[in-house]
Amino acid sequence: MNIKTYQIGVIPGDGTGPEVVAESIKVLQAASRKFGFSLNLEYFDFGGERYLKTGEILSEEDVARVKTKQALLLGAIGHPDVKAGILEKGILLNLRFILDQYINLRPVKLYEGVETPLKDKGPEDIDFVVVRENTEGLYVGAGGILKRGTPDEVAIQESINTRKGVERCIRFAFEYTRKRNKGKKLTLCGKTNVLTFAFDLWERTFYEVAREYPDIEPDYAHVDATCMWMVKNPEFFDVIVTDNIFGDIITDLGAVLQGGMGIAAGGNINPAGVSMYEPIGGSAPKYTGKNVINPIAAIAAGQLMLEQLGEEKAAAAIEQAIMKAVRDDLKSLSAGKMGYGTREVGDLIVSYL
Ligand code: IPM
Ligand code: MN
Repeated sequence: MNIKTYQIGVIPGDGTGPEVVAESIKVLQAASRKFGFSLNLEYFDFGGERYLKTGEILSEEDVARVKTKQALLLGAIGHPDVKAGILEKGILLNLRFILDQYINLRPVKLYEGVETPLKDKGPEDIDFVVVRENTEGLYVGAGGILKRGTPDEVAIQESINTRKGVERCIRFAFEYTRKRNKGKKLTLCGKTNVLTFAFDLWERTFYEVAREYPDIEPDYAHVDATCMWMVKNPEFFDVIVTDNIFGDIITDLGAVLQGGMGIAAGGNINPAGVSMYEPIGGSAPKYTGKNVINPIAAIAAGQLMLEQLGEEKAAAAIEQAIMKAVRDDLKSLSAGKMGYGTREVGDLIVSYL
């Protein structure tokens, strides 16, 4: 019998990235044995160490290799000895752009046994998904600085929104809301009262596409109000669609609601290309090599990857195993306070598979 083999690129990255990715791979390998598929892994050394040694960030050859994969799993990018922005833009954002991963999918789900900072809110209240546009907006790097460092200095940073980019993101969000089949509500998060050009395009496109989805309730909230509702009444939300920068900001808030960076994962998705899955947290250099960082976010990123590859049963089993571990075993999700080491959490989740 021929079993299905997936070509996966692994980018462990910087800091604690390699440690959490190792646990994610451990869990993915266990799931592949159990559910009858296999993973063919190729490792890529993108990150701060390689940059400091060779000056190379991402070569054309790297990009060509990465494009041959069916999906990528990323640990973390960011190095204390490299100026902020160089690796983030040169690797993470560059890959998102080059691979046209126009969706950043970030589920916000509170599991039983996990502490949320919201008073009187539980797993039945905190369960929504943010669909963040991932290739446009303020992230394209349009603009410039004039007369830098002088009293006459001018800085311009423009948000680029194209009809095509906005529409494909909104369409993905409607499809996703339908498939998720939970609240059947899609909220556009914008700022139509001030950003009257960019969000005019978003709003018109949103309600036009909404007509093709009569089963989905279209809803709108300004980004500031969205933050307020996420804290006050997170149960209002089913799926939220928004632009790149607002999505960046509200998903950090979302991550905190679900228990923090130890558990929050996301996918940079190109539905017709190579997608890249990652824990939302950073490289956490101070915890490097100590076996204290929480690998669950990276394991959850692997779960998202399997889901999108079509291994839905295996993905669901990983989620169940994560849920059991956080409910019954882990004392906390914070680094050093779990009551388990990084590797032991990986073993625990494997044992529940
Ligand atoms: C994220 C991160 C990145 C972003 C940074 C590291 C460039 O904050 O994935 O949310 O802003 O998108
Ligand atoms: Mn962010």
